[in-house]
Amino acid sequence: MYSDETLERFKAVKNMGKIADADAIGEVGNVYCGDIMRLYLKIDKVKDIILDAKFKTFGCVAAIVSMDMACEKLKGLTLDEALKITNRDVLSLMGANIPKQKIHCSVMAQESIEAAIKTYRGEPFTPHDHHH
Ligand code: FES
Repeated sequence: MYSDETLERFKAVKNMGKIADADAIGEVGNVYCGDIMRLYLKIDKVKDIILDAKFKTFGCVAAIVSMDMACEKLKGLTLDEALKITNRDVLSLMGANIPKQKIHCSVMAQESIEAAIKTYRGEPFTPHDHHH
C-alpha cells in the first residue's frame, strides 16, 4: 500500500536514533494507533538554530519516513522556522504518496517538532485536534 518512493526512503532512513545530550525532546502519542514518537534536537542556543535532529518511534513505515524527512529538513532551521512546518509540508516532503489511512502518522512529525520547541521554550504544548 506504500509507494515505491516511500519504501525506498524507508530503507535509507538516516535520522533514526537518539541524541544523548539533546537540548530539546518532543514526545507525542498517536491517538489512533497508540504509537509514540520522540524527537531529539540539538540547538545552537545563541543563534536559535537546530544543529541536529533525530527520532525514535514505535510507529509504522509512514511515521518513520515522515519523521526522517522532517529531521532532514529541520537541520539548519531557526526554531521559529521549524515551528512553521505544517503537516502538509511533511506530506509534500514525502512525495505525498502515502495512503490516506496513514496521514495521521505523519501528523506526529509536525506535533513532535512543536512539542520539542515549546517544551524547550517553557511554553505549554497541547496537541491539536486533527480532522481527516
Ligand atoms: Fe501508528 Fe502509523 S500506525 S504511527
